Amino acid sequence: MPVMDPDDAATRARQRDLVRRGYDTISLAYRGDDGQAAAPSAEDTARYAGWAAELAGLLRPGAAVVDLGCGAGIPATRDLAGHGLRVIGVDFSAVQLRRARRLVPAARLIQADMTALQLRPASADAVVSFYALIHVPLADQQALFPRIRGWLRPGGYFLAIVGAGRCTETGRYHGADMFWDHADTDTYLRWFQAARLMPLWHRYIPEGTSGHTLVLARAS
Ligand SMILES: C[S@@+](CC[C@H](N)C(=O)[O-])C[C@H]1O[C@@H](n2cnc3c(N)ncnc32)[C@H](O)[C@@H]1O
Repeated sequence: MPVMDPDDAATRARQRDLVRRGYDTISLAYRGDDGQAAAPSAEDTARYAGWAAELAGLLRPGAAVVDLGCGAGIPATRDLAGHGLRVIGVDFSAVQLRRARRLVPAARLIQADMTALQLRPASADAVVSFYALIHVPLADQQALFPRIRGWLRPGGYFLAIVGAGRCTETGRYHGADMFWDHADTDTYLRWFQAARLMPLWHRYIPEGTSGHTLVLARAS
């Protein structure tokens, strides 16, 4: 059995591919067309609605928002579009994106791996990512933050769910193989600052016996 070096580019590509194939398989099991999480969890629609409303309150009508790892577009992409924002949803799962096209016709949707995504510099007023970065290999996440900063206009916002504690795991999720990788909150806050994404606040989002961290940062 070959030794898995998580810093190796080929290993990271395999880990991302596992996630992509996983979400192709479990799209509906993860979240139904009504936006409800299939498994009982705190990822409830009211919570997303609150996050979308809070961000929309910081932005002008028609502002451009990129939703990285938008999944089937519900609830977040749809909620943000409902606030009159111009949303671009990005996901690499063909099945998730096909559903997003049907469920959120108001959004522009791009099938892409966020680690390879090319957007115009300073073209976004906000970038959001909910429960998606935690599936991206850690070295790719760290490399992504300066690129997200580059897509944002100065003063633009980055609102993201990241890890609360360090974890690297491969396991079964809704019946498919899945990969998770995240750092702890303090490490993310340091990485954001280094990328000139200045944290404004962070909140612990409890989910059952564990939880994640929601961070709002501003492009300096
Ligand atoms: C847990 S789901 C979250 C979906 C949605 N944001 C939500 O909160 O319901 C994670 C999503 O991120 C996507 N994803 C994970 N890694 C990605 C990557 N490297 N590039 C693009 N999409 C990715 C998956 O395909 C999946 O749809």
